[in-house]
Amino acid sequence: MGDSRERLHGTWASRWTFILAATGSAVGLGNIWKFPYIAGENGGGAFVLMYLACILLVGVPVMMAEVMLGRKGRMSPINAMRRITREAGLHGRWNGIGWMGVVAGVLILSYYAVIAGWALYYVVKMSDGSLQGASGDEAARQFAALLGDPGTLIFCQTLFMVLTMGVVVAGVVRGLGVAVRTLMPLLFVLLVVLLVYSARQGDFAAAVDFLFSFRTESLTWTGVLVSLGHAFFTLSLGMGAIMAYGAYMPEHAPIGKTVITIAILDTLVALMAGMAIFPIVFGSPGVEPNAGPSLMFQTLPVIFGNMPGGLFFGALFFVLVSVAAWSSSISLIEPGVAWLIESKGMNRVTANLLLGFVAWLIGLGTVLSFNVWQGYTLGGDTFFDIMDFFTASVMLPLTGLFIAIFVGWIMKPGVVFEALGDDAPRTLQAWRFILRYLSPLAIGVIFVVGLYNKFFLA
Ligand code: TRP
Repeated sequence: MGDSRERLHGTWASRWTFILAATGSAVGLGNIWKFPYIAGENGGGAFVLMYLACILLVGVPVMMAEVMLGRKGRMSPINAMRRITREAGLHGRWNGIGWMGVVAGVLILSYYAVIAGWALYYVVKMSDGSLQGASGDEAARQFAALLGDPGTLIFCQTLFMVLTMGVVVAGVVRGLGVAVRTLMPLLFVLLVVLLVYSARQGDFAAAVDFLFSFRTESLTWTGVLVSLGHAFFTLSLGMGAIMAYGAYMPEHAPIGKTVITIAILDTLVALMAGMAIFPIVFGSPGVEPNAGPSLMFQTLPVIFGNMPGGLFFGALFFVLVSVAAWSSSISLIEPGVAWLIESKGMNRVTANLLLGFVAWLIGLGTVLSFNVWQGYTLGGDTFFDIMDFFTASVMLPLTGLFIAIFVGWIMKPGVVFEALGDDAPRTLQAWRFILRYLSPLAIGVIFVVGLYNKFFLA
């Protein structure tokens, strides 16, 4: 029976392939686009520290739990949870973990595709020379022009959705491997180049100070909640993506070691992106740290526009960002697709088209929130802000909390340890302690106080 289950989706050739795929899912717009701008909006240093703490105390332990559940269940998150709960004689309400994930995935994909569309657009924009020698002001002006043009935004969003669905149709294992294996290391190298240029061209000292010196006064509780949400977002946790990939992980590979490797790579990319972007923020007029979602598109063109061969590197960079977004977006839709196949008897193509269409449709709201609907806000938040906050800062941490409680308190320790595989016993003990006490406590406190501050003290 185990065999037939594995045959349904295929198994990763090795632990390394799993690392590549999970890193492909984790490293994306969250690291390069989102982390710098939310760090900027929330005052820098203290936020970055909170984010690192959340990765360590919540992200890594929950990720281990998710991979374990996926490998044990060996099916789409919804059905994996069904199976695990049924075998353990547990209440069916725990299956809600799988459900929330599928919904969160589609909602996140809806805006993710819009932003990835901006990156696609900038591949062409870099090549056409219009940003040659651009100042911060000029780069900001040109980006604002794109945001004011819903037609182009929708075209790029649609193009990205088609790319995503193309790979998912081909099947995850076949569709993914090559892209991740060759292009992600290249992205890493290019980020290093960017960092060096940015440090020479902009105000490096100010950037280091902003990102790493601890100023508590600039951090709000809502900011802490955003940092917690981002720990989930950047590691692709709390919606079953990593659970779905866990289903493809070889039987005895050590989950702890694997997860820590992924978390380190992911964090490194985010910090490098921040260190490339902020020297430009502080070194050029017309760009503010709290520029919001536009930040990356207002700053990086300044580097590319002014370095030798910059327009070529710029185009290449945005190709790589698009690929990183691509290998992430696949994991946003795959759990839902796998579930529709297993449970509703749909084929891959139909399942994909259905979910992709829903995500695309909702994404139109995000497109319009940057122009036509800009004025329609709720407590100052646009449609995009609301989607982002509701998914990243509400749904993901909540699912994460349930996963921590389920694995830490409900499942039998013997079952859990056996399912985790070959990590050192001491690592496993420490992990279980953090997952039982620290992670739920941190999520609970940050969630309640953060929401209270956002809605009642704002
Ligand atoms: N982690 C990706 C990023 O940082 C986004 C992503 C992919 C994601 N799959 C996910 C976020 C699942 C939350 C849940 O860009």
